[in-house]
Amino acid sequence: MARIIAGISSSHVPAIGAAIDNGRTQEPYWQRVFSGFDKSKEWMAKAKPDVVIGVYNDHASAFSVEIIPTFALGCAAEFPPADEGWGPRPVPVVKGHPELASHIAQSVILDEFDLTIVNKMEVDHGLTVPLNLVFGSPKEWPCPVIPLAVNVVQYPPPTGHRCFMLGKAIRKAVESFPQDLRVVVFGTGGMSHQISGPRAGLINSKFDKAFLDNLTKDPKKLTRISHLEFMREAGAEGIEMVMWLVMRGAIDDKVDEVYRFYTVPASNTAVGHIILENRQRAGAKRKRAAARPSKRAAPSKTRRAAARVKTAVRRGK
Ligand SMILES: [Fe+2]
Repeated sequence: MARIIAGISSSHVPAIGAAIDNGRTQEPYWQRVFSGFDKSKEWMAKAKPDVVIGVYNDHASAFSVEIIPTFALGCAAEFPPADEGWGPRPVPVVKGHPELASHIAQSVILDEFDLTIVNKMEVDHGLTVPLNLVFGSPKEWPCPVIPLAVNVVQYPPPTGHRCFMLGKAIRKAVESFPQDLRVVVFGTGGMSHQISGPRAGLINSKFDKAFLDNLTKDPKKLTRISHLEFMREAGAEGIEMVMWLVMRGAIDDKVDEVYRFYTVPASNTAVGHIILENRQRAGAKRKRAAARPSKRAAPSKTRRAAARVKTAVRRGK
């Protein structure tokens, strides 16, 4: 049976990708950003997920303004990096997991979430930058990745509550998949930023930090943030944070925050990152406890002595 072991959120700033691709990660400006992901790489190397579900948004790379699906699930076997104006990023092709993706599509659509099924798609920095941040720059990504693209580029994007509930439906889908897979869900985008207009360059650290706090402790409070509040407090592109709520809906209500990182700025964006682990399931604990020899069941000296007497009596000694 597949299960979700953790959720990760991370900003997906395109300039971070450019810093990696142009060998600038050790420059002081970028070192400050990348060093914040050292622990995440260590965590990921230990966690070794079998599959990642990457919730991100397409930035007019795979979908033009002609077609903008609200939720688009990548069911293909592979997703090449998109050309975002400077040629495709020199990162590995993202290998998908068509069986699990198709299963999620069926389960989630029958649960009345109308996903768009995408059988051919290129993926942009929205997906590949977070993969770099937690996996580094390997020749091949270490596990299959199922992309889930959410529209946050043209009004109206889905509400935070809708995203949260989609996360719950995805969890249900994953947990009904018969293969024994350990899945990590990524929520990407944000944090506060605005890239154009009179408020370009806006960063609101107070809002971001409260969002991170509540992501762990009170995610339902975040589902009540309106589009207007996101845009007023976190800038026009801060609306990307609704995607973090898909991740949050897909994990337990009570989780362990195992790592958090926040820095400003990276390019014109606040960078936030969090790792939330599902707590051990009560069922799993019970199974392990059952597998262990019980102390109470272990025969004590007195019980062994009593058993010897009983045997002796039966044998007529
Ligand atoms: Fe974005």
